[in-house]
Amino acid sequence: MTKLSVNINKVATIRNARGGNIPDICLVAKDCERFGAQGITVHPRPDERHIRYQDVRDLKPILTTEFNIEGYPSTGFLELVKSVKPHQVTLVPDPPGALTSNAGWDTIHNQDFLKEIITDLKHAGIRVSIFIDTDVKNIESAVKTGADRVELYTEPYASEYLINREKAIASFIRAAECARTCGLGLNAGHDLSLVNLKYLIQHIPWIDEVSIGHALISDALYFGLEKTIRRYKDQLK
Ligand code: PXP
Repeated sequence: MTKLSVNINKVATIRNARGGNIPDICLVAKDCERFGAQGITVHPRPDERHIRYQDVRDLKPILTTEFNIEGYPSTGFLELVKSVKPHQVTLVPDPPGALTSNAGWDTIHNQDFLKEIITDLKHAGIRVSIFIDTDVKNIESAVKTGADRVELYTEPYASEYLINREKAIASFIRAAECARTCGLGLNAGHDLSLVNLKYLIQHIPWIDEVSIGHALISDALYFGLEKTIRRYKDQLK
């Protein structure tokens, strides 16, 4: 069954608004696990506008589920993840000032760059996933970088879903089939929600893990965190 990893960046955004420690990131992460999340995802950015590097260090020893750290492989990011040693690192290509991840890797032009980094991370015992769009050429080339998994960038699916869901899913099914044929594990994330998640999983049930932040934390304002996590997990059944 597809695992749910809760991205807690938005919780850190609320905390940072006041400068104190409310809400407490570590407590929220533990509660997400207690309510059924099978993983916790964070995306520390260089300006630390939501998750801070210290949050990542604080979270590692207290988490009991899978810890996934996303980010651009800058020197600082790589030092952080190699010292923290999460279960999984997801490499994203976005420049330091990006509002949010908005594209997958060009694995053809970045093949040598990615290969060197991924080899290093795998030596440190960390599984590596790379963020990718649905272009099968990028997926085929991802194999040559040594990545264990690819994470499909689902924003285009989420926006097209509202107009024509059959059209929205088509390129994602092709990409997912390509990843499976290539022997790559499969993750998915970005703009997934209670509106579009079930349809994605119905058509691509071999997705290993979805990481969901913005919509899930927003839904928690209405339903509470426990019920929200239960609702998302119901979509994955
Ligand atoms: N995957 C990656 C690589 C991301 O950068 C993000 C956003 O931090 C997500 C998944 C989760 O996206 P959302 O917050 O829209 O659920």
